[in-house]
Amino acid sequence: MTEIRIDKFLADRTNYSRNAVRLLLKQGAVCADGVRMTDAKQKINPDTQEITLHGKKIHSGSQLYIIINKPKDYLCATEDKYHKTVLELLPDDLRHKDLFPAGRLDLDSTGLVLLTTDGQLAHQMLSPKHHVPKYYLVTLARNFEDSYPEQLAAGMTLSDGTECLPAQVQKISEKICLVCLHEGKYHQVKRMFAAVGNHVEHLHRTAVGGMILPPDLPLGGHLEIFHKDILKLLKPESFQAVYEQIMSDFSSYSINDGQ
Ligand code: URA
Repeated sequence: MTEIRIDKFLADRTNYSRNAVRLLLKQGAVCADGVRMTDAKQKINPDTQEITLHGKKIHSGSQLYIIINKPKDYLCATEDKYHKTVLELLPDDLRHKDLFPAGRLDLDSTGLVLLTTDGQLAHQMLSPKHHVPKYYLVTLARNFEDSYPEQLAAGMTLSDGTECLPAQVQKISEKICLVCLHEGKYHQVKRMFAAVGNHVEHLHRTAVGGMILPPDLPLGGHLEIFHKDILKLLKPESFQAVYEQIMSDFSSYSINDGQ
C-alpha cells in the first residue's frame, strides 16, 4: 500500500468520522511507530508503520501476516470437528479475517506457524520449487548418533520409498538436535528419525527461512508482522547463522513438554 493521510486511513478503518479522527489526533490518541501524531494531513504507510489508536493496533486493511507459537493439541486448519484450531489462539478481532495457516505442524508439534490472508505468499512458502528452509528443535528418545549428519545430508529414502532431499542436522545435546529441511513431506522429521532407528519425542519449529520464532513469544502467543518482514521468510539463511541464533535463544524455548 502506498502512503495515505492519517485522518483518511483512520476514518476508513474505524467507526470514527474524519472530524472525530481529527479530534483524536489533537488529543494525542494516535501513534505511528510509537511516535504521537497530531497533524491530520500527515501521511503514513500502513504496510511499514504500526499505527495505534488509544494504544490498539489498527490493521492496514491489506494482507495480514501473523506468527503464532503453536502449542500441542491445536490443529493447523481453519476449522475442525474434533480439535481446537490455531485460529482459536487469536483474539476475536483477528479471527474472522480469512486467515489460514501457511504450512502445517502435526497436532503434537509446537512452534512457528504463519497465518496469513496472502495466498500468493503461502504458495511461495510451500512450493517445493522454492525450498524455503524450515528448522526444528528435535527431542529424541535415544541418543543422537554421530552418523546422523551424514545420513540426512545424503538424502534419505523412507520405509515407503519416499525420497527426501538432503537435510542438515546438528547435535545440541545427547537427545536434542536442530534439523533443517528444505521440503515438507508428511511427518517427515519423525519418519526420517524412525528410518535411522530413533524416535522423535518432541518437535518444535523455531524458524522458517530467515524468520526465527521470537524467544519471548510464549506458546499460544501471536505476533502481527509487516509485509517487509515477511520477505525474510523466503530469504534463505545459512544453517549456521540460524543455528547460532537459535543456540543463543535456546534456554528460552520450551522444547520439552510443549504444553
Ligand atoms: N515433521 C514432522 O514429522 N512433524 C511436523 O510437525 C513437522 C515436520
